[in-house]
Amino acid sequence: MKVLLSEKQIQQRVGTLARKISKDFSGREVLLIGILKGAFIFMADLARKMTPPVKMDFVRVASYGSETQSSGKIKFTKDLETPLRGKDALIVEDIIDSGITLKHLYQRLKARKPRSLKVVTLLDKPGRRQVNFQADYVGFQIENHFVVGYGLDCAEEYRNLRAIYVLK
Ligand code: IMP
Ligand code: MG
Repeated sequence: MKVLLSEKQIQQRVGTLARKISKDFSGREVLLIGILKGAFIFMADLARKMTPPVKMDFVRVASYGSETQSSGKIKFTKDLETPLRGKDALIVEDIIDSGITLKHLYQRLKARKPRSLKVVTLLDKPGRRQVNFQADYVGFQIENHFVVGYGLDCAEEYRNLRAIYVLK
């Protein structure tokens, strides 16, 4: 395994994202919506670096049928426990690959009429996109490698690593 992003690089970038997001949401309470499982470590660090009042909730989604079908719908295997209507919400994702998960999730959550709905992703692989989807905040754009660590797994392994590695 080769280090792609060191612990220091990640922490610095998460700090920068948190400052930018805190400024944009200043004076408002933010509902962070973490996508399980991959986003939980990023969300924990981001939340602790933010200055506005924060509440947290999580969703877990599965896609129907083949992941490679851009028409593939998602279902909630764990839904939010809080109503979204009228809230300022920020979806927190670990990585955007094809964009299919987030595009569908965004539409489903937007239909619940939050006051605002934004997306932050730690990693973005724009070269792998199958549907048009752009996050509002991106930590790092990366090449089309499979990466692990800092919440990201391969068959449930490596989530607890402090850096992000390319799996060879
Ligand atoms: P997509 O954008 O719908 O294709 O799916 C993104 C999801 O696939 C992420 O939330 C991850 O769970 C998983 N994923 C995509 N690329 C990687 C990777 O390089 N390492 C680990 N998980 C990944
Ligand atoms: Mg994920």
